[in-house]
Amino acid sequence: MKLAERMSRIGVESAFDVLVRARALEARGKRVVHLEIGEPDFPTPAHIVAAAKQALDDGWTHYGPTQGLPDLRATVAAYVSRTRGIEVGPERVSIVPGGKPIIFFPMLALVEPGDEVIYPNPGFPIYESMIRFMGAIPVPMPLVESRGFSFDLGLLREKLSDKTRLIILNSPQNPTGGVIPAADVAAIAEMLAGRDVMVLSDEIYSRIVYGEQPVSIASFPGMLEKTIILDGFSKTYAMTGWRMGYGVMPTWLVDAVNKLMVNSNSCTASFTQRAGIAALTGPQDEVDRMVAELRRRRDAFCAGLNSIPGFHCTVPGGAFYAFANVKETGMDSRLLEDYLLNEAGVACLNGGAFGRYGEGYIRFSYANSYENLMAAVEMIRQASVKWEEHVASCAR
Ligand SMILES: Cc1ncc(COP(=O)(O)O)c(C=O)c1O
Repeated sequence: MKLAERMSRIGVESAFDVLVRARALEARGKRVVHLEIGEPDFPTPAHIVAAAKQALDDGWTHYGPTQGLPDLRATVAAYVSRTRGIEVGPERVSIVPGGKPIIFFPMLALVEPGDEVIYPNPGFPIYESMIRFMGAIPVPMPLVESRGFSFDLGLLREKLSDKTRLIILNSPQNPTGGVIPAADVAAIAEMLAGRDVMVLSDEIYSRIVYGEQPVSIASFPGMLEKTIILDGFSKTYAMTGWRMGYGVMPTWLVDAVNKLMVNSNSCTASFTQRAGIAALTGPQDEVDRMVAELRRRRDAFCAGLNSIPGFHCTVPGGAFYAFANVKETGMDSRLLEDYLLNEAGVACLNGGAFGRYGEGYIRFSYANSYENLMAAVEMIRQASVKWEEHVASCAR
């Protein structure tokens, strides 16, 4: 039997491959500091776990409405309205198992083969994977390091065409940690006025910010009807394993997503949705503590990386990734990823795993303890002494 042709166009996330290789080294007794995986190393706050347990005891163990529990949708609508400065009701909210389905389902519903989709590169690998899977044409927008990893707006204007169906924005970004400045978001909204283009605004890291607050494109005139906001619980509340996220979008698109949900998942788990209400309405001090600790790590880790010859790391404004420019090491970033894992014992990701404009960079997730991060800096520093030898031996 052979697989359907479309399976040749779907991608994967290489973080999971590096994790497997790192675990194999650990099994052989090597110390590895894990800076490859993009998930908070904090526990889910106790009151959220308690709400899930209570929900199980209370019998929230059956199918629920496909679109999500009405109480959670109302809570999400109020939260998104407040945090984005927009007015949305529960009818625009789809609750789904994780943030990822809000990439998959709206794209399945909107994008035809041959349509063009503009997306950030380097970017979350699932964007390009899904664009190709749909048979659409990927139009990568390079992120510009000197602009804090925002777009070159002139280039974006050039890339917009009559075939553009969707633009993907992500702020704060994976893998760069960059936050798109409000003025750029405003300029993009203006460019889209009068065009039949939808925007997928991936705001999953919206609460993990250290300086300028990200602005949602949905808040600009005329954009609410063209925007799909992706957000969820995975990063903000350290709930990656719970699989719960949501989209906020025009109701005609909610109807389509409902059909895809009923054909795939039926609904998101009911007891986790009850915990989702507790997450959004309960105390937020653990989120604040997590962000404060991530900021402390960011500052120390980026300073440490910047003290290593050949590394240059722009201090990121959000998420928990440091995206270091390693071009001056003289090493190909893919080889450097291997080298840092095998020689230094630091698991990280080659920027090329996020698209071709990510080559020459390494992504480190600083969702690991302060002590481990400082140890990683020293492990990289020690290994860096041997780089030149290694570069020379690779060239031979
Ligand atoms: C930019 C971005 N969007 C979406 C997701 C998906 O989140 P979830 O785990 O809730 O599906 C991730 C997860 O790494 C991400 O980095």
